[in-house]
Amino acid sequence: MTNILCIGAGYVGGSTMPVIASHCPEHRFVIVDINEARIAAWQSDQLPIYEPGLDEIVSQTRGKNLFFSTETDRHIAEADIIFVSVNTPTKTFGHGAGRAADLQFWEKTARQILENSTSSKIVVEKSTLPVRTAEAMERILNSNTKGLHFDVLSNPEFLAEGTAIRDMQNPDRVLIGGRETGSGRKAVERLVELYAHWVPRDRIITTNLWSSELSKLVANAFLAQRISSINSISAICEKTEADVSEVANAIGRDERIGRYFLRASVGFGGSCFRKDILNLVYLCEHYGLPEVARYWEQVVLMNEYQEARFAANMVASMFNTVAGKRIALFGAAFKAHTSDTRESPALAVCRTLLEEKADIVMTDPYALDNACQDLQDLGNQITYEPDPYAAARNAHAIAILTEWPQYTQLDYERIYQSMVKPAFVFDGRNLLDHKKLYELGFNVYPIGKPALTRLVNHGIEAA
Ligand code: UDX
Ligand code: ADP
Repeated sequence: MTNILCIGAGYVGGSTMPVIASHCPEHRFVIVDINEARIAAWQSDQLPIYEPGLDEIVSQTRGKNLFFSTETDRHIAEADIIFVSVNTPTKTFGHGAGRAADLQFWEKTARQILENSTSSKIVVEKSTLPVRTAEAMERILNSNTKGLHFDVLSNPEFLAEGTAIRDMQNPDRVLIGGRETGSGRKAVERLVELYAHWVPRDRIITTNLWSSELSKLVANAFLAQRISSINSISAICEKTEADVSEVANAIGRDERIGRYFLRASVGFGGSCFRKDILNLVYLCEHYGLPEVARYWEQVVLMNEYQEARFAANMVASMFNTVAGKRIALFGAAFKAHTSDTRESPALAVCRTLLEEKADIVMTDPYALDNACQDLQDLGNQITYEPDPYAAARNAHAIAILTEWPQYTQLDYERIYQSMVKPAFVFDGRNLLDHKKLYELGFNVYPIGKPALTRLVNHGIEAA
């Protein structure tokens, strides 16, 4: 039996470890966190994150070979392998503020591991980190005078929220980076063996440490770049009566381009894309590559432009003012099937519309608590309403900001009847049946497609 510890019971630790534990019943897994409330939630029936399939996996493994605890020091001492998945937010202070990763939690963890270790261990970076973080980690850990040896591995997580369990069960690849020394290779092999319980060997890629660390940033930068690319094209489509879905389909059929991640939207969100690209930008600057830095920075700037463009289009279409108008925002989560609101474009749009003095009501099936926390600086300016029908009542406009499938099933005739006229729908996810909404009486503004509106000078005039 191997004692496996995961430090950090957030999205990454909390969704990966239960899956590994379910496939490796002979090993013992403990997940620790400094946040007591979070650990209490992991021990209850109300898990702290919503992720399809997670409840089942946790209930199968918890108390058998998976345990949650706040006693980090004790569990470090017992562990053979330690996964570290503490948060690495963007630095908000000092050199590199707004770009570089804030590694203070990470470094504290390294020192804590060192203090409490009485045996040699494998330490695995699971959080996304700047390239060459492992080097700093190795230096701290191997500076010990206890005669202990630590092998640091990089094993970045590629799972996407909302499909985390499915992604973990059937990953495109598992990436493991390690040192090319005898002990480094052995450490890599131990981690390979763990994943090989359910992942075919040819999907487990082993590389040097730096390739592994960099690949995580690059994967996210490439994915986000595709979204910014198609979003930039959505702006041209709106000017030319081209349809961005048709363009995406036409270009995506080319296998070299591929059809995924070409859905134009109000913008990308989530805890990774923005943070990782800014991190990449910072690294490029650090290594004296300003042209490369500017190239990747543009992906983030295009995303900010798209969010701002969406909100500005709402104001312009509603006769250049939304002051005092009730606007129902459908969706707070950064994408469907998650309660996560980190970097959600819904919150960016919400803030802009509030600056325009709109009366905002926000609805979401799972993410309202998180949205309320993220927007607490705005006090009670926002109404949070779980029922979309109630949210839309007496509203001038609805904006679809998260692609929740349940929004396609609503009775829009009933919604239309309850709204102030002229009634508007701004579909930031191209989720709804626009023609049908138009026939019901709505003025419809999709992303990257001609608007369907009866309002002269505000789109295409009705036939
Ligand atoms: C992402 C990566 O996909 C994952 O590999 C990495 O480990 C973490 O970051 P995640 O942030 O969970 O995962 O969500 P993802 O599905 O990638 O979506 C990110 C954002 O892009 C969402 O806001 C989503 O709505 C948006 N998006 C995605 C689009 O706007 N259009 C698309 O075509 C795809
Ligand atoms: P991610 O999406 O990368 O998993 P989260 O913010 O969801 O990030 O989770 C990171 C978790 O790590 C948080 O629950 C936080 O409390 C925890 N954490 C941060 N520092 C430490 C530490 N030194 N010891 C234990 N847990 C920590």
